[in-house]
Amino acid sequence: MSDEKLFVGAGVRLKARAWTRGLSRGKNVALVSEPGVWRRYGPGVEKALKGAGLRVARHLLPTGEAAKSWDAVDELLCVMLESGLGRDSALVALGGGAVTDAAGFAASIYLRGIPWVSVPTTLLGQLDSGLGGKTGINLAGGKNLAGAFHRPAAVVCDTEVLKTLPPRERVSGLGEALKYGLVFDAALWDMMTRRWDALAAGEARPTDEVVRRGASWKRRIVALDPLEMKGPRELLNFGHTLGHALESVAGLGVLRHGEAVIWGMRAALRLSVKNAGLSAAAALEADRFLASVPVPTPRRLDPKRLLAAARRDKKNRGGAVRFVLLREIGKAVVVCVPEGEILAAARELFL
Ligand SMILES: NC(=O)c1ccc[n+]([C@@H]2O[C@H](COP(=O)([O-])OP(=O)(O)OC[C@H]3O[C@@H](n4cnc5c(N)ncnc54)[C@H](O)[C@@H]3O)[C@@H](O)[C@H]2O)c1
Ligand SMILES: [Zn+2]
Repeated sequence: MSDEKLFVGAGVRLKARAWTRGLSRGKNVALVSEPGVWRRYGPGVEKALKGAGLRVARHLLPTGEAAKSWDAVDELLCVMLESGLGRDSALVALGGGAVTDAAGFAASIYLRGIPWVSVPTTLLGQLDSGLGGKTGINLAGGKNLAGAFHRPAAVVCDTEVLKTLPPRERVSGLGEALKYGLVFDAALWDMMTRRWDALAAGEARPTDEVVRRGASWKRRIVALDPLEMKGPRELLNFGHTLGHALESVAGLGVLRHGEAVIWGMRAALRLSVKNAGLSAAAALEADRFLASVPVPTPRRLDPKRLLAAARRDKKNRGGAVRFVLLREIGKAVVVCVPEGEILAAARELFL
C-alpha cells in the first residue's frame, strides 16, 4: 500500500487535474456524495473532473450513517456497473466520514478493488476519517464492523468548504485536532489554545494550518503502521477509550465524536498524572482549557456503565484497561490503568 498524496488548501477541490493525475487509465470516474454536500459542492467538483478530461458517473448516497449500509453500497456498486465503469476506472468520494467510509469501501470491493480519491468535507474528515484507508459500513450489531483497508490514492482537503460547517461539527473536528497536539505536537497545542476563538469562528488561516498539521500527523502515523498491527497507530486513540464508551453510554447521536473525545481527553489527563508522570500543573492547565470548550455535558451518566463500556474496548487486558496517556504535552505512552482509577476519574467529571 503506497502513501496517499495529500492536497491541502482553499479551493483545492477544484484543481482536479492535479489530484486525478494517473488515477484512471480509462478516464472514467464515479463521483459519490450525499444530498447535503452535493447541493453546495457537487456541481463544481463534477465540472472540475470533466475539465480534467474524465467521464463522470454521479451517485448520491443517503445522508449520515444510512450511507454506511449494505443496501446503500449495493446500490452504488450497481450504478457503477450500469455506467460501464471497468477496472481501469476510479472513484471520487466527496463528503464527510460517512460518505468516504462507504464509498471507499465500495471502491475496495468493486471488481476486486479500484483506486479512489477521498475529498473530505468535514473537519473531522480532513483530520481523521478521510485519511488512512480504513473504510467500511455498520452492521446491525454495531458500527464499523465490516470493511477493508483501502488507502486512497490522494486525499484532497479543501479548507474552503469548512466555512459552511455547522458550529458543533467544527468544534467536534477541532477536538480531534487538539488530540494531535497533545499526543505529538506541543507547538500545535499551543497555537490552537492561543487562536481558539479564531478557529471556532472558522477563520481561514489558522484552520488551514490546523488541517495541514493534523492531516500530516495522521498520514505519517498511518505510514508507520498501515494495517494497525504495530504500536504507533494506537497512540491516535488518546481520549478515545473513554470517548467511545461515552458515545455509546450517552446514546448514539447525543454527543458528536470529537465532543466525546474532548471528555475522554479530560479523563486521560487526570489518569496521566499518576500513571504516566505528567506534571499536575500541566494537566490542570490543559484540563482548564478543554473545560472551556463548549461541549454538551451528558446527563444522568453512571460512571460504572462507562467503565463497563471501556472494558469492552478491544484494547482491554486483564484487570486493567489499556490507555494512551501523556508523559508531557506532545509525548504519549500506552499504560494499563487499574479500573478503580478510571472510575474515580469518571466520577470526578460526571457526578
Ligand atoms: N475511517 C476512519 O478512519 C474513521 C475515523 C473516524 C470516524 N469515522 C466515521 O466517520 C463518520 C462521521 O463522519 P463526519 O463527522 O464527517 O459526519 P458525516 O459524514 O455524517 O457528516 C455530518 C453532516 O455534515 C454535513 N456536511 C458535510 N460536509 C459539510 C460542509 N462542508 N458544510 C456543511 N455541511 C456539511 C453532512 O451533510 C452531514 O449532515 C462516522 O461514521 C465514523 O464512524 C471513520
Ligand atoms: Zn477520533
